[in-house]
Amino acid sequence: MPATAAPAADPTPRAALHRLLRRMPKAELHIHIEGSLEPELIFALAARNGVPLAYPSVQALRAAYAFSDLQSFLDIYYAGASVLQTEADFHDLAWAYLERAAADRVVHAEIFFDPQTHTDRGVPMAAVITGLARACRRAEAELGLSARLILCFLRHLSEEAAFATLEAALPLREHFIGVGLDSSERGHPPEKFERVFARARELGLHGVAHAGEEGPPAYIESALDRLQVERIDHGVRCLESPALVQRLAARRMPLTVCPLSNVKLCVFGSMAEHNLPALLAAGLCATVNSDDPAYFGGYLNDNLVAAFDALPQLGRDQAYALAKNSFEASFATAADRARWTAQLDAAFAAE
Ligand code: HPA
Ligand code: ZN
Repeated sequence: MPATAAPAADPTPRAALHRLLRRMPKAELHIHIEGSLEPELIFALAARNGVPLAYPSVQALRAAYAFSDLQSFLDIYYAGASVLQTEADFHDLAWAYLERAAADRVVHAEIFFDPQTHTDRGVPMAAVITGLARACRRAEAELGLSARLILCFLRHLSEEAAFATLEAALPLREHFIGVGLDSSERGHPPEKFERVFARARELGLHGVAHAGEEGPPAYIESALDRLQVERIDHGVRCLESPALVQRLAARRMPLTVCPLSNVKLCVFGSMAEHNLPALLAAGLCATVNSDDPAYFGGYLNDNLVAAFDALPQLGRDQAYALAKNSFEASFATAADRARWTAQLDAAFAAE
């Protein structure tokens, strides 16, 4: 026997796949920054700002994270966000996410924020946006991670409120690249916001919208036709309409899929039932994202590993396609997208 330790046994194909998923460079395109607010940070910010909480401990709060649908989650998510009050709070929130994302080898993030959740409580728009933007600049400098912001309208509120939100944010226009649409989907179809998305387009902003998470394929059609969005967030219900799938595939219209979110919010009964393999097999530009990682049990790599573990149709080729799609679907420059794709190719060649 040699004196030195024997080399580790060859990794199983599963371990090798996990390593590839974790090490490959990737973009995250569907992350609500308020959904990255971990219970520990909720308690720290509540203490810093003197905000009373309905739960006695981090454990008790985490135990409340059992959801039956989107609305049951949103009620807890909006309550958690009430501890965010100052520019420093928004910086600290985004910085915690960005450090976590960099550890997952996220090289580019397009981050949603919900200004109305804060401005309706009296928090100044400038505190929200400048705090988040400061963390994004810091991520570029200290982590080499490029981060951009997308301002989301809450669809359960009026179009008039969305217009007022966009106008209030315009003095800070340089800090965000697009607009999105989130919150309660059922009963709030995309066309409710047609005019405000048209105005955003005039301002040179990108447009994305949540559609086909709980809502029907018709909401995806409406997001395309009436809002003229460039990506569909979630979109998993598109498979109910073969004509829509054909349209999405022909246009390479990206879908920002969030597997753990879909299981936690009961869009699918289990991860084994998720339609991510079918979306990819249909030729769609699907990507994997974390949505609200503090609430749904994991960040981007946790989502990848959970999906690949539960779905035997997902392997090395699908891992590559998902990361490549994430760059293709991003609003980064062609030069950045090409550079990251070359890094992706190198990561696969090395494994
Ligand atoms: N859907 C709609 N609104 C949201 C979500 C979501 O998954 N997460 C945070 N706001
Ligand atoms: Zn979302």
